[in-house]
Amino acid sequence: MATAELAGKHLVLGMTGGIACYKIAELTRLLTKAGATVQVVMTEAATQFITPVTMQALSGRPVFTSQWDARVPNNMAHIDLSREADAIVIAPASTDFLAKLAHGMADDLLSTLCVARDCPLLVVPAMNRQMWQNPATQRNVTQLRADGIDVLGPDSGPQACGEVGDGRMLEAAATFEAIASFFSPKILSGRRVLLTAGPTFEPLDPVRGITNRSSGKMGFALARAAQQAGAEVHLVAGPVALETPWGVFREDVQTAQQMHDAVMRSAAHADIFIGVAAVADWRVDHASEQKIKKTAGRALPTFTFVENPDILASVAKLPHPPFTVGFAAESGDLEVHGEEKRVRKNVPLLIGNLGPLTFGMDDNEVILFEAAGVTRLPRADKQTLARALIVEIARRLPDTDPIR
Ligand code: CTP
Repeated sequence: MATAELAGKHLVLGMTGGIACYKIAELTRLLTKAGATVQVVMTEAATQFITPVTMQALSGRPVFTSQWDARVPNNMAHIDLSREADAIVIAPASTDFLAKLAHGMADDLLSTLCVARDCPLLVVPAMNRQMWQNPATQRNVTQLRADGIDVLGPDSGPQACGEVGDGRMLEAAATFEAIASFFSPKILSGRRVLLTAGPTFEPLDPVRGITNRSSGKMGFALARAAQQAGAEVHLVAGPVALETPWGVFREDVQTAQQMHDAVMRSAAHADIFIGVAAVADWRVDHASEQKIKKTAGRALPTFTFVENPDILASVAKLPHPPFTVGFAAESGDLEVHGEEKRVRKNVPLLIGNLGPLTFGMDDNEVILFEAAGVTRLPRADKQTLARALIVEIARRLPDTDPIR
């Protein structure tokens, strides 16, 4: 989970009426755990779905529900609350509240607070699919975006009313990621990043195959960090059991050849390519179409292997390659093999894992190989490391120096 962006931030979390209010309990917990302070403000309708007592217990602060709250000595809650905030987040944002915001209405504490704000406003819509598709709602959302308000979601899927479609609120974890993303420095704004992640799976027959122990965590962490840095991210993933990072376009593949083809379809349009996947070097020539049977007395099966395409090297060979970054999985002598591998693959930057192979682990320590020499980054969890690597990559992009 991305947390650094939210440490020390002060958020006003505005809740409006909707069954998705239950998700805000979890969202509040995630935000406070990440070091943010959360001031909950609820509309009258929101209090019908979850109580202010619950929200007070989770946020650790008294909840505001009324413009006429006697606890605010000057009766200026609508001004005072937003002046301390780094952002106001409305979650869930009902159809009615989006309409109010689009028209600048101010008839309760939360709507008045929004009109009187001097900080960014994020809304997380939650409603029935027909309500979302209604032309009036769509007009209002267009207006909100034009007014510089960030609209996060909505999600698609089964709804509380039993219908299926667009309109339901992002899950708490995705909302949390989207808020963290909002606060990340946009050092890759306008850039297109293509990544590979995870293992590949090379079939022997319809039920068996060869794979490896890559978990995909590093590649997914990099995809998340690149998205949070403002990039448009396309993640080509081998078979892994990981959630797609919020805002990332994911394409699932199985074999090295499929991963190669997916990458080569998009590489010419990418500004940055990061090959994080542990791609199988070989595949079985002519995998059996039928399950290979174990028949008593018969000889053991033998397999002939052929080499898979080298995806990283193919991208680096393009006439106008993106800034191409490789990873090195080595079980020994990284310092020797790293630079040799970078030169062999003809990439400007190669990232090597220091120490034992770290497949599946949450911590990592890396060394950067480039023509100018080597750089070591301190040991950190994969998400922190991913953010640091994105800064290092952004710093090395040609024609731009977004962070100096
Ligand atoms: N890679 C690739 N396509 C392959 C093999 C590797 O794109 N068929 C990429 C990986 O994604 C990684 C880099 O090349 O970015 C290095 O992968 P690694 O497995 O360390 O190197 P190999 O080229 O396979 O060399 P070796 O197995 O001999 O160490």
